[in-house]
Amino acid sequence: MISIRDARSDDAEQVLALWAVAAENDDRPPDDPDVVHALLARDAGALLLAHERDEIVGTLVAGWDGWRAHLYRLAVHPAHRRRGVATTLVDAAERRLVALGARRLDAMVLEGNTHGQALWRHVGFHPQDRWRRWVRPTI
Ligand SMILES: CC(C)(COP(=O)(O)OP(=O)(O)OC[C@H]1O[C@@H](n2cnc3c(N)ncnc32)[C@H](O)[C@@H]1OP(=O)(O)O)[C@@H](O)C(=O)NCCC(=O)NCCS
Repeated sequence: MISIRDARSDDAEQVLALWAVAAENDDRPPDDPDVVHALLARDAGALLLAHERDEIVGTLVAGWDGWRAHLYRLAVHPAHRRRGVATTLVDAAERRLVALGARRLDAMVLEGNTHGQALWRHVGFHPQDRWRRWVRPTI
């Protein structure tokens, strides 16, 4: 039985361990506990965890900055995939973000991540053709 709850600071190590084996880890800065603590200090309800008994089996960050709603770090442990965990996380994130005022949700999905693309299509998302994300690291 999968349940969803908000992450706490003391979940950080287990979340990082899950991300190490389950997340889309290409082309992004490395993680450490401080980034998780900083996220939860900024927005205590932003990191959603799927758990079964005491094991964290999935994560999703449902970020809301007052203007936009961003979904990221969707990751499900390989042993728990194709059981609806990601779908359940996205449903929970949508409830949170709509309650906060979101009118649209977005997710970054790597070109070539066919599994990720299949999941996002399954939950009703589609790629935007005319936009690309522009980035640079902070100085
Ligand atoms: C992508 C990911 C989050 C999916 O998690 P999940 O819990 O297995 O997804 P769900 O069980 O909710 O899948 C719902 C539907 O999405 C689609 N889907 C999910 N994974 C798929 C896969 N590997 N291949 C094809 N379709 C897939 C299917 O339509 C599926 O429905 P079905 O099982 O009835 O066919 C998981 O594979 C994962 O963590 N991958 C590595 C990290 C990653 O790529 N995250 C996404 C970043 S954008």
